[in-house]
Formats: sequence, C-alpha cells, structure tokens
Amino acid sequence: MKAVIPVAGTGSRLRPFTLTMPKALIPVAGKPILGHILDKVVALDIQDVILIISPAGDAIKTYVEPYDLNVQYVVQQEALGIGHAIFQCRSLLDDEPILIILGDTIYPSDFSYLQDGLTTSAVGVKSLDGDLRRFGIVEVEKGRVTRLVEKPDHPQSNLVVAGVYYLNEPMRLIDCLDTMIRKTQTTRHEYQLTDALQMMIDQGITLTTFTVNEWHDCGTPDRLLEANRRLLDLKEDGGIGEIPGSVLIPPVAIAPDARIEASVIGPYVSISSHASVDRAVIRESIIGQEAHLKNCNLVGSIIGPHAVVSGQVKQIYVGTYSEMYI
Ligand code: G1P
Repeated sequence: MKAVIPVAGTGSRLRPFTLTMPKALIPVAGKPILGHILDKVVALDIQDVILIISPAGDAIKTYVEPYDLNVQYVVQQEALGIGHAIFQCRSLLDDEPILIILGDTIYPSDFSYLQDGLTTSAVGVKSLDGDLRRFGIVEVEKGRVTRLVEKPDHPQSNLVVAGVYYLNEPMRLIDCLDTMIRKTQTTRHEYQLTDALQMMIDQGITLTTFTVNEWHDCGTPDRLLEANRRLLDLKEDGGIGEIPGSVLIPPVAIAPDARIEASVIGPYVSISSHASVDRAVIRESIIGQEAHLKNCNLVGSIIGPHAVVSGQVKQIYVGTYSEMYI
C-alpha cells in the first residue's frame, strides 16, 4: 500500500502563519502536522509515500528528508481542490492500493486494521453531533456507502468524512477525477474527492466505511490549539524534566535547544527549536521556531517562527518575523 498525502493547500484560514510556511509544517504538540502524519505512515509499515506539494513546497522536502521512506513528490501548480491534487499523481499510481491522508489532519486513532488492506475501497468516517456543515457527509445502507455529499447545507446523516480514504483500485478513482476535470465539475469552486467517490458509487463500485475514533483537522487557529492540547495530553512523556529557574506545568513539549529562563510554561505549551522565552508566563500556546518572547503573559496564542513578542499581552496570533512590543 502507498500513502498519498496532499499538502499543497494554501491554508488561507491559518494566515498569517501559512504566508511563509506550508500548513503541514505548522508545529502541534512538539512536531509539525506532517510529522504526526508520517509517524502514522511509519506505524502502518508503509514505505512508499507520494506527497503532493505546492510550487513553494521545498520546505516540505527538507523536512521529510531524514525519514527513512521512499518519497515521491508531485507539484500541484494551482490549488484547485483535493480531487485535483490527487489527480496530479496519476502517473505514479497503478494497481497498488493507496491510503489518502489529508495533510492538515492528525489521527491519534489506531489504524492497524488497515495494514493488511481491505477488500473494498472505503472512506474513514466518524459519527458526530452538532453543526456538520463543514464536513463531507456519508449515507450508508447495509454497510455500503450510498451517497457522499461535500459540505451540504442540510446533512442527511451524522456520519462525516474524516479525511482518510482507502482505495483498493486507485485507477478507478483517477478515471472519475479525469471525467470531472474534463467536465469542469466542481463543488464550491474546487474538484472534490467526495464528488469523485460519489461518481465511483454511481458506476457500481462498492465503497464501504471504516471508523476513525479520533482525528484533528488543524485548519484554523482554534482547531490547531485544540489539537495541541489533546495531543499533549496523549503524549507519554508530556512534561518530564526540569528547567532550572523555571516552572514547567505538564503537559508541555519543549525542543531541547529552546532557551527558557525565569518563566512559567504550561500546561499545553509547545515550544519549537531555537525559540527563547525569558521571564514569561505561557499557557495553552504554540511557539514557533526561533521566536523570542520576553516579559509577556500568553494564553491561547500562536507565535510564528522568528517573531519577537515583548510586553503584557494575553492572547495573540503573531505571524512569521513580526515584532510586537507592548
Ligand atoms: C476535507 C474534506 C471533507 C472532510 C474534511 C475532514 O474538507 O473535503 O469531506 O469532511 O476534510 O477534515 P476540508 O476540511 O479540507 O475543507
């Protein structure tokens, strides 16, 4: 089985952070989103990975290099949707099954049942309550998916698409995407994977579901911070260790080369490499690489790489290389 991971999205809901780095490289609970996904791929014993990157995706290649995986890159020139992204890797696909994992999504769930493959193509789903209009919705009868709709205004079921898909005959999907792109068949101005799966069903192909117990879509600042909290809670070594002169309240993830002085850190704080924190109180926040914080009190904040923050602020989202003195 190959893993196919689209990471070319513009991440518009995560600006300003995504103005200078791909969404998949934003840190959550001690490592980039993509690091969490690749760890899952490794745990599934998958060796072959296709990453669909944007033309500005070189930072992804640099990040992925140390992984002992056979990675092929495909560039999606224009962000025209997930379906379009998957279509870009058609020449690298054959009869071998694929597992598509959306690149802004982290799965603490156990997927070991996928390791030996499934007998049909299947979509990962979870039953949810509340407002489901931001999800793909799945309708199932007698174990088979009968209908898939991308972000309907009036969802007809509470089974949502969880962003992970198993295709045991990927070329069937590619054929459907090909038809959609030829006919310019878009939903919400994008080529949707959901629509291509519906086309497969219309052609009589069996699509089933598998259950995803937990996943974190990190597409907005709120959800990123929520994922950070939850994943730090799950981390086995969340907050072991001491930093002389500072207080750590677990769970936290602090890069070994971050410099912390006279500060109170935690709970739920992720501090990236070469960041420095001096006389600060930080809670429930994500601090980017080489960010410098001094004399501040942060809660629920995201500080981009290389940003400088100094002063009594409470909650802020500060982009890469920004400077804030209050
Ligand atoms: C994508 C899929 C949607 C799915 C969601 C899960 O939407 O298109 O069907 O429910 O991921 O996170 P996106 O969040 O990229 O808009």
